[in-house]
Amino acid sequence: MANVVLGAQWGDEGKGKLVDILAQESDIVCRAAGGNNAGHTIIANGVPYDFHMLPSGLVNDSCISVIGNGVVVHLANLFSEIEANVKKGLKVNPERLKISDRAHLVFDFHQVVDGLNEGALGGKSLGTTRKGIGPTYSSKMSRSGVRVHHLLNNWDDFVTRYHKCLDGLQKQYGFEYNADEELKRCKEYRDKVRPFVLDSIPYVHDAINAKKNVLVEGANAIMLDIDFGTYPYVTSSNTGIGGVCTGLGLPPRKIGKVFGVVKAYTTRVGAGPFPTEQLNSVGEHLQTVGREYGVTTGRKRRCGWLDVVVLRHSHMLNDYTSMNLTKLDILDQLDEVQIGVAYVHNGKRYTDFPADLDMLTDSTVEYETLPGWKSDISNCRKYEELPQNCRRYIERVEELLGVPIEWIGVGPGRDAMVVKVPASVSQASEAKKQKVN
Ligand code: GDP
Ligand code: IMO
Ligand code: MG
Repeated sequence: MANVVLGAQWGDEGKGKLVDILAQESDIVCRAAGGNNAGHTIIANGVPYDFHMLPSGLVNDSCISVIGNGVVVHLANLFSEIEANVKKGLKVNPERLKISDRAHLVFDFHQVVDGLNEGALGGKSLGTTRKGIGPTYSSKMSRSGVRVHHLLNNWDDFVTRYHKCLDGLQKQYGFEYNADEELKRCKEYRDKVRPFVLDSIPYVHDAINAKKNVLVEGANAIMLDIDFGTYPYVTSSNTGIGGVCTGLGLPPRKIGKVFGVVKAYTTRVGAGPFPTEQLNSVGEHLQTVGREYGVTTGRKRRCGWLDVVVLRHSHMLNDYTSMNLTKLDILDQLDEVQIGVAYVHNGKRYTDFPADLDMLTDSTVEYETLPGWKSDISNCRKYEELPQNCRRYIERVEELLGVPIEWIGVGPGRDAMVVKVPASVSQASEAKKQKVN
């Protein structure tokens, strides 16, 4: 069975930190979707690591990392990330990193097109990371994409495919491009990447059959999912549990636990609706105290209260076994904390996240207000050590969602995690499941 860590909001919930902790008991950590639009920060033994393409399991020496078929790979960015981490002392070599031969390649022209698309949208741009993610998935879906195995097999065939992909985009977007230069770089990366590449499908299946511990590291998050997120303000892949199946060739019956990572408030980078956003001193507090800057683009993250409408949608789609509530320490100094529980539109109350974003523009949010705890929780390591009002907040979130919170993040470091398995809620949700069945 493979366990899975997934982002439950708009990204940057702290998936990397949980993966790093779970990687200590894992043999393999896999990425299934996205590319270097992701940015996962980990602080292990006081050393900060930023991962974009590489799975966060690499910090753990005994863990092998797999980049699955659903991931899109920019080779130059991948190797510069590898080099930066090798400099920090991590061992990143073909024994420890495996790349699927079916993964699609991101070319520099995909990044050019990403910029052109954004430019054409003007004031209505999506705020993409400009890493070429959308255009690469578009090439994949329109069947003109180029995969890793194409690069490794027949060079002339690769060049033909490369030109077909580029020509199509040039016709559509009309931009000048130096293909020869990029092809020269591709030839260099061809030999460099070869030892890392394999058919990741039997590799992962054999590991599961041999009872190895396999962990999947979600990237991006469910509200950025191409189907279920705030379309079109989303990324271009399936970022939820469905993307884990297709991005690694994992059938649902091979999936064990699904851990949802939930920031104790909400953030979002880039444009798009954000019902509980706080464009006021609360938002500024969360942004500054939480150091909410994008790891990939350096942009300020937009901040607001926790949104249970989003989380209910997220849980319906991914069915979390338990959750990791992260960055709870960032709420420490607030007098009160709020939780968005419903949207109200034209006098009607909604508890399901709508498909139509226009509906959100003139909705209001119904909040529940809880008292703050006004004390520093960053040194707490046991659930009982957390202040009463803090526990009340945690337990209210569990109650609203019917999912147990198994871990509580109280600081960025690997050790700053409180483990809690609330038997009452687990039993309640188990009993509820049995009743439904
Ligand atoms: P990811 O993309 O989901 O892996 O999350 P990011 O790494 O982009 O953003 C999460 C940020 O919060 C990182 O800088 C983490 O080091 C930090 N972080 C994670 N958990 C906690 C926590 O519980 N408390 C605090 N203060 N910081 C945390
Ligand atoms: P992690 O894994 C936060 C957002 C971008 C933009 C939209 C589309 O760190 O949680 P793209 O470049 O993917 O076409 O951009 O998606 N986005 C993320 N926001 N965290 C991420 O990843 C993200 N990956 C994509 O900001 O709004
Ligand atoms: Mg991130």
